[in-house]
Amino acid sequence: MLAGGAPAQAADGITRGTTYSDAPDSRYLLGGDWLFRLDAEGVGLDQKFQRQETTDGWVPTAVPRAWNAGDNSVTSFQGTVGWYRKDFKLPDARSRMNWLVRFESVNYRSRVWLNGKLLGRNTGAYLPFEQRLPRDGLKLRGTNRLVVRVDNRRLPTDFPPSGLTGAGDPAGGWWNYGGILREVYLQRIDRIDVTSVVVRPDLPCSTCAASVGIRIVVRNYADRALRIGIAGRYGRQRARFAARSVPAHGFASFSSQVRVAKPKLWSPATPTLYAARFRVTLRGRKLVSYRIDSGIRSIKVVDGRLLLNGQKVALRGVGVHEDDPTTGFAITPARRAQIVAQAKEVGATVIRAHYPLHPDIHDLADRAGLLIWSEIPVYAVKTQYLKREEVRKLAAKELRQNIAANQNHPSVMLWSIGNELSARPGPVQALYIARAARDAKALDPTRPVGLAVAGYPSAGCRPQYASLDVIGVNEYFGWYPGPNGQISDRDALPEYLDSVRACYPKKAIFISEFGAEANRDGPLEEKGTYPYQRDFVNHHMGVFATRPWLSGVVYWALQEFRVRPNWDGGNPRPNSPIHAKGLLSFDGAKKPAWFDAQRLFAATPQLAVP
Ligand code: GCU
Repeated sequence: MLAGGAPAQAADGITRGTTYSDAPDSRYLLGGDWLFRLDAEGVGLDQKFQRQETTDGWVPTAVPRAWNAGDNSVTSFQGTVGWYRKDFKLPDARSRMNWLVRFESVNYRSRVWLNGKLLGRNTGAYLPFEQRLPRDGLKLRGTNRLVVRVDNRRLPTDFPPSGLTGAGDPAGGWWNYGGILREVYLQRIDRIDVTSVVVRPDLPCSTCAASVGIRIVVRNYADRALRIGIAGRYGRQRARFAARSVPAHGFASFSSQVRVAKPKLWSPATPTLYAARFRVTLRGRKLVSYRIDSGIRSIKVVDGRLLLNGQKVALRGVGVHEDDPTTGFAITPARRAQIVAQAKEVGATVIRAHYPLHPDIHDLADRAGLLIWSEIPVYAVKTQYLKREEVRKLAAKELRQNIAANQNHPSVMLWSIGNELSARPGPVQALYIARAARDAKALDPTRPVGLAVAGYPSAGCRPQYASLDVIGVNEYFGWYPGPNGQISDRDALPEYLDSVRACYPKKAIFISEFGAEANRDGPLEEKGTYPYQRDFVNHHMGVFATRPWLSGVVYWALQEFRVRPNWDGGNPRPNSPIHAKGLLSFDGAKKPAWFDAQRLFAATPQLAVP
C-alpha cells in the first residue's frame, strides 16, 4: 500500500511513502525493529532511559504496538508508563535536508528525545503531531536514537477522562491501550515543507459548476528567501499558483481556484474522487509533491434535515472502534480495510467513532462511499472538569487538529464536539458548545457541527444546544433503565423522539447510538440473548422508519470491542470486558441480528429521499 513513488529503502525498516493520501511524498515509515521498556515503577526518567546507549533492559518490539493488548486487568486499564526506542540511520544523508518525526497517534502523554535531547511533548491520542529533529543533534550518517516515553495513566481532565463507575470500577467507554498506536514517520524537508493543504470544493447546487478553493501553506527551512513555484492539478484540470518568495525561516500561503464545470458528485452511491496533485519547485526542480484524493459534494442542514448534494438523506450505519483481539488499537492495514468492508457489507452509508479514525480509514471511506461522523474524544467529561479552562483549551485544540487533519476527506460528514456530556447542560456546557461551534465554522464553514447526547426525556428542550446543526441522540429505550427508570419502557420511545423533534425543528436529528448486548442463545425475553438483540433491532428500526425526519441512524456497534474491567453493558450475563452490542462478535462471527440490520438497512431508502 505504500505509495510514495520512489523505491523503498529497507535500512532499519525505513520505507518511503505513507499508507494514506493527503501527504507529501517525502515521508518515510519508521518501521522495522523498535525497542520497548515497560516502566511500571516510574524509574525511567531518573535512570535516564532517554540517554541509554546499550540495549540492556529493552526488548524488541514493532510499532505500532499497544503494550497491554490482551491484558484485561484493572491495572492494565488504569495505565502505566512505557518507553519506545528506535535506533536508526537517516534514509538520506544530504546535509541540506531537515527532518521531522511524525506520530499519527500516541496514547496518551508523550515526550520525545533525539540522541538524549528532549524535542517536545504531546497530550492526546488519535491525532497526529510532529517534532522537528534539530540539526545540531541529528547525525547525518551515524545512528540516531529516538526515544518516546508514553504515559497512559488516565486523569479526570483527559479525553476520555478517568473516573469511577457507581460500582467503583474504572469508568470509560473503550479500553485504555497504552503505546504508539498508529504509525511513526520521518519526514524529509528539502528546504520547503508543505505545512498544510486545504482543498475545499464548493458546490452551490447539485447541477451547478463546482469551484474548488485550494490553499497551500509552506515553510522555508533555509537561511535565505526562496522563490518557489507550485504546479497543481485537480482531476484533469490545472491549478495555477502565482510564484512567490518565501522568507528565510518563514511561511507563505499559495491559493488557487479551479472551476469544475460538470462535476461528478461524490456520494455513498457514487464515491467519485478527483486526484489533486501539487508539485513544489525551486528553479524548475521538484522539492516535494503532495497528493490528496478529493470529492465534490455539499453537506448542509436546511430546515431540520441533513442534505447531501441538496437532497435529503435518511442514513443508516454503525459505530466502530479500531479494536482487535490481538493487537488492541494498534490495528493492521488489513484490519482497517476489514472494518470498512464490514460496514459496507451490512449496508451502512455512515460510520461513527468516539475519536478521529486512522487516516487509512478516511481514505477507505472516501473510496467506498461511507460518510464519517467525526468526533473528538470529549467523552462523558464531567461538568466540574469541563469547567476548567485547560480542559476546554485541550478540547478546542483537538477539534482544530481534527479539522486540520481530516477536512480534505469527502467522507467526513460533520464535526462532532463530544459525546454524552451532562444531559442537562448548564452554562459550562453552553459555553463549550458555543465556542466549539464557532471555532469549527471558522475553520471549516462547509460542514455541520454536532454533538451526541444521552437520550433522556427528563432532559427537556435545551437552549444550550442552540449553535449545533446536528443533534445525535444515544437511545437505549428498553435496554437501560436510565435515571429514575425513565427509559425502561421501549414503548416510550416514539413519544420521546417526537418530543426531541419538537424541541429542535431546525436541526438535523440523528440516532447516534442504539443497541442491545448479545453473547448467547436463549429466550427472546431475556436480555443478552441473540433473539433479544434481533427483536431490539427490529423494534427500534421499525420506530425509526416511522420517523422520516430522522437524518440518520447509527447502530452501536458494528463489532464487539473491549470496554473496561467489569463492564456489563446492561447484560445480566456479561463477558467483561467485552462490549457485546456488536452485530459481529469480537472474533468476527455474524450474530443473528447482523442479518436483521442488513435487511432493514437495505430496505431503507437512505439517499435522495423525498
Ligand atoms: C454510551 C456510549 C457508548 C457505550 C454505550 C453503551 O452511551 O456513548 O460508548 O458503548 O453507551 O452503554 O453500550
